[in-house]
Amino acid sequence: MKKNAAVIGYGGMGAGFHVKHLLESDVCNLAGIYDIDPEKRALAASRGVKVYETREALLADPTIDMVTIATPNDVHEEIAVASMAAGKHVISEKPVTLSMESLERMIEASKKYNRIFSVHQNRRYDVDYLAMKKIHDSGEIGEVINLESRIHGSRGIPSDWRGIKKYGGGMLYDWGIHLIDQACMVLGFDVAAVRCTFDHITNNEVDDGFQLWIDYVNGQKAYIEVGTYNFIPMPRFYMRAKNGSAFISDWREKCKVVKCKAWHESDVVPVQTAAGLTKTMAPRDEVTTDTYELERPVADVHNYYRNFTRAIDGIEEQFVTHDQMRTVLKIIMTAFESVDKGGEKIVW
Ligand SMILES: NC(=O)c1ccc[n+]([C@@H]2O[C@H](COP(=O)([O-])OP(=O)(O)OC[C@H]3O[C@@H](n4cnc5c(N)ncnc54)[C@H](O)[C@@H]3O)[C@@H](O)[C@H]2O)c1
Repeated sequence: MKKNAAVIGYGGMGAGFHVKHLLESDVCNLAGIYDIDPEKRALAASRGVKVYETREALLADPTIDMVTIATPNDVHEEIAVASMAAGKHVISEKPVTLSMESLERMIEASKKYNRIFSVHQNRRYDVDYLAMKKIHDSGEIGEVINLESRIHGSRGIPSDWRGIKKYGGGMLYDWGIHLIDQACMVLGFDVAAVRCTFDHITNNEVDDGFQLWIDYVNGQKAYIEVGTYNFIPMPRFYMRAKNGSAFISDWREKCKVVKCKAWHESDVVPVQTAAGLTKTMAPRDEVTTDTYELERPVADVHNYYRNFTRAIDGIEEQFVTHDQMRTVLKIIMTAFESVDKGGEKIVW
C-alpha cells in the first residue's frame, strides 16, 4: 500500500523536487506540506497542495506515515527527532546534519521510536557517477588506483543561507556531501586519512570551494574538488586503473575508456615539444590500446523513495545506511579539522 508522505520545507528542493516527485510516485501519496514561511504555505495552497498551518498539526496527523525534511541544514536534527517522536519515518535532506554528535542523536531517536531514518543521497542515481562505479566494479580496466571527481561553476556560492555558517552553509556541506558519498560508493567506506583546503573567493565566512584528498585503507585514493569560480570547468570524473583510464568530461557526456591491451610497444613515435622530443609522454596508438565509450547507465531517482518505503515494510535494507551516513559526515568533520590545521593530513 502507498505511504502517505509529508514534506517540511517548501523551498527549492521541497517544492521543486520532493513534492513534484511525490505527486508522480508509485509508492507514496503526497499528504501535504508545512513551511515556517507563510508565503511559502500560501504558494503551496495556491498550487492545490494541502498545507498544514503548524508543524505540530502536521505531526499530529495520524494518516501521515513519513516526513521528508527539506529545510536549511541547521534544523534537520530538531525536525527529524520531533517527527520520529511523533511516529513518522524520516528522510532528511543532505547534509543529514552538522556534527557527529547531532547525527548520533538522530540515529538514537530512530532506534528509540523504531522508525526508518535516512538521508536523501539522490546523486547515487547520477548516470556519470554510475558509469564510474560500473567501470570500477566490473574490473574491466583492472584494479583502480585513484578517482578524481570535480564540479565546477563560475557564479560563486549562492547568496542565500548557503553562504552563512550558522545555517550549515559552504560548498563542503552542500556539494561535498554528494561527491564524498559517490566516491565512497565507488571505492568503499574504509577511510584511512583525509586532507582538505578551502577556497574563500566570494565568501569569507564559509568555503565557496574546496580541495579534498581521501586515502582508503586498501591504498586507493580519491581527490574531490568543488569550485564556484571556474570559468573553464575541469572534467567531471577521471579514473586511473592498472589496465587503463576512464574519463567523463561533463555530466551530459558518455564515459570514455582507454584500455591497455599490450604494455610493451615495438615503436613509439616521439612528440615534439617546445623544449625537445619526448617518447615518455607520447600518446599510445591503437596497436596497444582500445578506445571506446560506455553507454550511459539508466537510472531512476524514484528508486530512492521505492527503497525507503520497502525499508518501512521490512522487505529491503535502506539504501543509505546509518554507517554510510556516519562515514560521509566524519569525512566532512575531518576535512574541517584538516583546514583548521592548515591543510594537514588527518589519519583516522
Ligand atoms: N539532494 C539534493 O540534490 C539537494 C539539492 C538542493 C538542496 N538540497 C538540500 O535541501 C535542503 C533545502 O534546500 P533548498 O535549496 O530547498 O533551500 P530553500 O531555502 O530553497 O528552502 C528551504 C525552505 O525551508 C523553510 N524553512 C526554514 N526553516 C524551517 C523550519 N524550521 N521549519 C519549516 N520550514 C523551514 C524555508 O522557509 C524555505 O522555504 C537543504 O538541506 C539542502 O542542502 C538537496
